[in-house]
Parts: sequence; C-alpha cells; structure tokens
Amino acid sequence: ALISMRQMLDHAAEFGYGVPAFNVNNLEQMRAIMEAADKTDSPVIVQASAGARKYAGAPFLRHLILAAIEEFPHIPVCMHQDHGASPTVCQRSIQLGFSSVMMDGSLGEDGKTPMSYEYNVDVTKRTVEMAHGCGVSVEGELGVLGSLETGQAGEEDGVGAEGTLTHDQMLTDPEEAADFVKQTGVDALAIACGTSHGAYKFTRPPTGDILAIDRIKEIHKRIPDTHLVMHGSSSVPQEWLAIINEFGGEIPETYGVPVEQIVEGIKFGVRKVNIDTDLRLASTGAIRRFLAENPAEFDPRKYLTASVKAMSEICIARYEAFGTAGNA
Ligand code: G3H
Ligand code: 13P
Ligand code: ZN
Repeated sequence: ALISMRQMLDHAAEFGYGVPAFNVNNLEQMRAIMEAADKTDSPVIVQASAGARKYAGAPFLRHLILAAIEEFPHIPVCMHQDHGASPTVCQRSIQLGFSSVMMDGSLGEDGKTPMSYEYNVDVTKRTVEMAHGCGVSVEGELGVLGSLETGQAGEEDGVGAEGTLTHDQMLTDPEEAADFVKQTGVDALAIACGTSHGAYKFTRPPTGDILAIDRIKEIHKRIPDTHLVMHGSSSVPQEWLAIINEFGGEIPETYGVPVEQIVEGIKFGVRKVNIDTDLRLASTGAIRRFLAENPAEFDPRKYLTASVKAMSEICIARYEAFGTAGNA
C-alpha cells in the first residue's frame, strides 16, 4: 500500500529504527528493493531524482512504483521525490501521485549555489502548505552537505555545492533547525553531519566518528518530532570496488560511511537514510563480473539478473542493520 513518509517514519520513531530510502531509475533497482523488503518484512521508501525523471521519464517511474505496490500489496511503500529544486517541481510530483516530496532549498534551482536561510524557509514553507493540503509529506534540508574530511560536496549530477565548504556550513545548526521547523512545518529534515553525495566521500579508511554524532544528538534534542534524514549514506562497499576493478573497471581508492556509524545516527534520531551509490556499485560490479565470466552470453536478462541479486543483497543488509526488518 502507498503511504506517506510521515506515517512510515512516525512508526520508525516509535520503535527506534531507521528506513533506507533507495533511489530508483529502472526495473532492476525496483525489483531488487522490493524482493529484499519482501524477504525481510520491511517497509520501503523509494525515491526518484531529477536525474531519474530525465533517464526513465516521469510516467515510467510512476508506473514502476505503482507496479511494485500492486505486486507486493502487503508492503507499505512511500513514493518520494528526491531533491526537488523548487515548489513547482514538488507540485508536479504531487500531481503525479507521490506521497512525499523533498524541497531542497539549501541550494538554488541550479542545484549548486548555497542559498540564504530566508530563501530556504520561503520555498520550503510554500511547499509544505501545498503538500499538506494533499496529504503529502515534506522533507526539507538545512545546511550544506559536504565531507568533513575533504570539504567537498561530492559528485552527484545536479546536486551538490561547488567549491570547498567551511566546517560550519557542513554542520546543521541546532537552533536554526528548531526555527526552520517552526517556520516551515516540515515532517522531516535532511541535516548536514559530515556526509557527502556519491562514491568519493573519504580518501582514507574511516576511523572512529566520521560523522558528527554529537551534532545529530543536539539537533534531535531540539526538534524531537521532526524526523532526521541522512543523505549521502552509501557505505561504498570495498568488496564491490575490488570486483569492479578486477573485471576491467578503474575506480580509485575511496571510502563511504560505515554502516555502524549510520546505526549510531539512528539511535539518536535519524529515520530516513538515503542510499544510491551502493546499489550503483553493486550493479556495475555484478554486470562486469558476469560478462567477463560469460563472454558468449548476450541475453541482457542474464546479466541483469546478476545485477538484481547483487543490489538486493545490499538492500537486505541495510534493512537488517537499520532495524527496518520485521516492521512492514
Ligand atoms: O542525491 C542524488 C542521488 O544520488 C540521485 O542522483 O541525480 O544522478 O539521479 P542522480
Ligand atoms: P549516496 O550517494 O551516498 O548513495 O547518497 C544518495 C542520496 O543522498 C540521495 O539523495
Ligand atoms: Zn541526497
């Protein structure tokens, strides 16, 4: 069944677990997520980015998600729009039937320019007024995502500040967060706490507290009824990097957010955990390996089956680690 993000995350907060939000662009990702949710009895958040709409087209994405709900009627699904660049973009998604939208007013419509607090409040508040009238939840973002190690926003097409960021920009201010929630009425808030988008988050193996866990605690204390969202939460599995490079890939040494650190965040109020890169890496690794080991094979269903299996295994691991499993 299609449910709103508010409904799903209220349950997660009550029972102290987190829900991974996986990006979807195609049938294989959708199937991998749903099969993993079915196996582990987990509720699902699937999110579509502007890039996904450009790749698959909004009608295909919409029907992909509706098809998942039809095939797995017993699994609660939240259909979420990732990184909306304006209230107009969010309005279109609401019209398309999304049950949740993100208005990312931390950056301008170009997805690159950090914007003023006032701008962010304005566009987010307008989105909340529109969305809540339709029973749709809203996620806002406060602070600019960037790796606390590199000061870089990361390399996602379309989303991410340009240039090097200051330490302060990369950590959401708890007092500002409280004011933001009061003024806008958002259901969930994406916070900057040391993560960045894409595969290149950290250049060295992460040790100790790679995330600003204390900051998460402070923000949660100020806005306990607003669900915290962690973007850039891919763990960049070293085993998949090794497989990609073993079978012809060339990905330099790089590290993501350790699953244990995310679990720590969930203990202190993180409820939605955005993951895209990990499924991309698993899919690419599985396809490279399959084609290298089966050079005479040319039926896409064969190598895409390997891709679905690889992605599904990641989904299962996250559902189990975040405590999502058993809560569908
Ligand atoms: O936040 C960005 C997501 O990983 C989506 O990336 O715009 O390349 O689809 P994308
Ligand atoms: P990753 O690039 O770490 O997977 O983050 C995805 C994300 O935050 C989508 O909004
Ligand atoms: Zn994001």
